[in-house]
Amino acid sequence: MLPHLANELAGRRKHRHLTTQYLNYRAVDTYTHVLDFEADVLMKELFIQGNAGASPLNPQVCSFFFTEEALTLLTDSIKDELVKTALHLSCKFMNCTSPISNLVDFVPFLQKILTFMSSHGHHLHGGLMGTYGGLIKDIEVRMNCGEDVPDCLAKSMILAQEEEGLDDKDMAILASAFMIGGVETTAAIMQWFSAAYPEIQAKAHAELDCVIGQDCMPSIDDEKNLPYIHAIVKEVKRCHNPFWLGTPHFSTEDFRYNGYLILKDIMVVLNTYTMHNDPACHPEPETFNPDRYINNSTTSAESANLANANEQDHWMFGASHRICPGMIVAECEIWLTIAWMLWCFRMEAIPSEPIDLKEYNRLSGCSPMPFRIKCIPCDDNIAKVLEL
Ligand code: HEM
Repeated sequence: MLPHLANELAGRRKHRHLTTQYLNYRAVDTYTHVLDFEADVLMKELFIQGNAGASPLNPQVCSFFFTEEALTLLTDSIKDELVKTALHLSCKFMNCTSPISNLVDFVPFLQKILTFMSSHGHHLHGGLMGTYGGLIKDIEVRMNCGEDVPDCLAKSMILAQEEEGLDDKDMAILASAFMIGGVETTAAIMQWFSAAYPEIQAKAHAELDCVIGQDCMPSIDDEKNLPYIHAIVKEVKRCHNPFWLGTPHFSTEDFRYNGYLILKDIMVVLNTYTMHNDPACHPEPETFNPDRYINNSTTSAESANLANANEQDHWMFGASHRICPGMIVAECEIWLTIAWMLWCFRMEAIPSEPIDLKEYNRLSGCSPMPFRIKCIPCDDNIAKVLEL
C-alpha cells in the first residue's frame, strides 16, 4: 500500500517536490514548537495514565496519539474519533507492507487478477483518501472562518494549494502519505524503545543527570551533547525497523552490480532486514547495543549521503532519491520522545507480564505485541516540570 501511495506520488512528480519542500530542515524548524508541545502532551499522558508510576500502561496508545497530533494539531483527546479511525487505517496499512501479506506489490502480474489483497488495497486506499482528504477540508473550513489555526503540515499545504495548482485529490494523496507514512512507523519505534533494558536506561539517566540536570527537559539543541541518547536512537532504528524490507522499486535501465546483470523493469527491493543484521557490519547483531554508535554523531540524512554506503548507520528510511522525505521530522520526533521519556521516567517491566520482543504484532509491519510497563517518575520534580 505504501508503494500504491508512493506510485501515485511518483506519477505526479510535483508531489515528491512538495513533500521534500514541506519536510526539509528549514520547514521542520518551523514545526519544532509543535513537536515540543506534543512531546509534552505525551509525557503528561504517560504520567497521568500511569498514575505517577503506580499503574501499568500500554505506551503505544499514547505514542500514536503524539505522532498524529504533531502533524495536524486537530485533536484534544486521546479518545477522539479521528485518532481511532486513523489508528485503524494505520494498522491496516502496516498489515500491507510485507511480501507475504502484500504479494500483489511484489509480484506485479497479480495486480491484473482480482484477489482479496488487491481489493483490500483498494478499500484501504479509499479509506485513507476519505479520512485524510476530509481532515484537510475540516482545517480549511476553520481557516476560512477566520480561526487562527496553529502552524502545522496541513495548514502549510492549504496555504500552498493554489500556488502549487493542487486539486482535492492531490491534497488527499499528500495528506495520506504524510499521515500514513509517519504515524504508526514512529509510534512502533517508540513502543519498541519503551521496553529498553534497565542497564541501558541507567547509562542514559547518568548522561542526562550530568548534562541536563533535574530542572528542565532536554531540547532538540541538546542532542549533540547527549551522545549516548543519540546512539540509543540509532540502535532502536537498526534493531526495530518498522518495515521488514524496503519499498519495491523498478530498475529503469539494464545495469551490472557485483557481477550480476539487473535488467530494466526488474523489481529491486532493499533487503533492510539482512543489512541491519549483517554481523560483518554489526557484530552480534541480535544484541541491542547502543555503544556500537557511540562515536557516530551523524543525522540519518547526513549518513544517507556518505560516499561509502557501507558506512551508513541504518537503512530504515530507504535509500537514494526515493528515500523517505519525512526522515528529518521523524528523527526529531523520535529523539525528543526518547530523550524526554528517559528524562522523566524509569520504564519498568511488570514481573507477571514478561515482554517478548521476538513476538510481532499482526502479519507484517514490525510492531511488537502490545505490552504494558510502568513509567516511574525519575524524580519528585517531574510533576512540577510537567506542570501537573
Ligand atoms: C519511523 C518513521 C518512518 C519510517 C521508518 C519511514 C520509512 C519510509 C520508507 C522505507 C519509505 C519508502 C522509501 C523508498 O521508496 O525507498 C518512506 C516513504 C515515504 N515517507 Fe516515510 N518513514 C517514516 C516517517 C515518515 C514521516 C514522519 C513522514 C511525513 C511526515 C513520512 C513521509 C513519507 C512519504 C511521503 C513517503 C513517500 C515518498 C516517495 O515515494 O516519494 N515518513 N518512508
